[in-house]
Amino acid sequence: MAMPHTSDLFQEQNLKLAVSRRASLADDSQTTAFRLVDGEADGFHGVVLEVFDKIWLVSTLGRRLPALFREVQEDVRALYWKRLDQDQKETPQWVWGEKVDAPFHVLERGMKIELSMQSGYSQGIFLDQRINRMHVRERVKPGQRVLNTFSYTCAFSVAAALAGGITTSLDLSNPYLQWGKRNMEANGIDSASQYFCKGDAMSWMKRFAKQERLFTGIILDPPTFSRSDAGVFSVQKDYDRLVQAAVQIAEPGGWILATCNDRRLGHERFEVMVRDGVRLAGRQLGKLTHTPMPPDFMDEHYLKSIWLDLI
Ligand SMILES: C[S@@+](CC[C@H](N)C(=O)[O-])C[C@H]1O[C@@H](n2cnc3c(N)ncnc32)[C@H](O)[C@@H]1O
Repeated sequence: MAMPHTSDLFQEQNLKLAVSRRASLADDSQTTAFRLVDGEADGFHGVVLEVFDKIWLVSTLGRRLPALFREVQEDVRALYWKRLDQDQKETPQWVWGEKVDAPFHVLERGMKIELSMQSGYSQGIFLDQRINRMHVRERVKPGQRVLNTFSYTCAFSVAAALAGGITTSLDLSNPYLQWGKRNMEANGIDSASQYFCKGDAMSWMKRFAKQERLFTGIILDPPTFSRSDAGVFSVQKDYDRLVQAAVQIAEPGGWILATCNDRRLGHERFEVMVRDGVRLAGRQLGKLTHTPMPPDFMDEHYLKSIWLDLI
């Protein structure tokens, strides 16, 4: 029998340590999706591991899947592998265990979100937004209007709707909006009671401004770069204009969640752009609050989250 490589032996220890560091999350039956390994902070260079119920998704910067993850693990249904270095953002590869061909649900504080291991590069939820979704659920009061731009599978909208909000989800992709409707239904919310708009977020916000359609809460979580019929959007160049457009349709006393996961944009520069957006809209800011990333994200704090409370 081949002797294990020294670094593989360390990895087994590191994985045990990572599991014990997240013991409270793993014990929470109402939250079944979280990050179990976060790169260097857990002693794994270029490796992250996300738990989706009992399915593990290992993502690697390199082309090699660490030997440890080739071995079947106790109490894990399946392991999938995603390479982060690829140009063609492909569906994760099945490595061992059950082949998960059908969509399935994970829980986040009891909220159900549909995931798929067959849906391409992204599986249906961005776990780094968990704390922000929790805050949305806590902030929204029944009957308030909430706008979720770049909504993807509408996880933020479901959080707001569970709190009684009337949500509008904006996304370029119709399949993602349909996914969002299924997420609503999975949580006992009639999707016909919520609004879904296909198209460019900035164009829709300008249209809402003309219609004087206002919202109590607005969520901004754009991709780093986007190309649509309306033109090119880049967080580095355009975030201030995005905030400006949102402020123009925020009710007096309303709030905006501005987030950005682009590692090249630092926290200070991001705050300057967000403040510029409020200034360009000619509105006064009541309070600005930063929220941290979820505690299972122990490596780089790349996600910037600013809550703006407007006067
Ligand atoms: C990073 S995801 C957003 C994640 C989402 N906020 C969440 O919490 O799950 C990016 C989403 O933005 C959408 N998108 C990209 N460009 C867009 C645009 N110009 N207007 C509206 N949606 C856009 C994509 O279709 C995709 O669903």
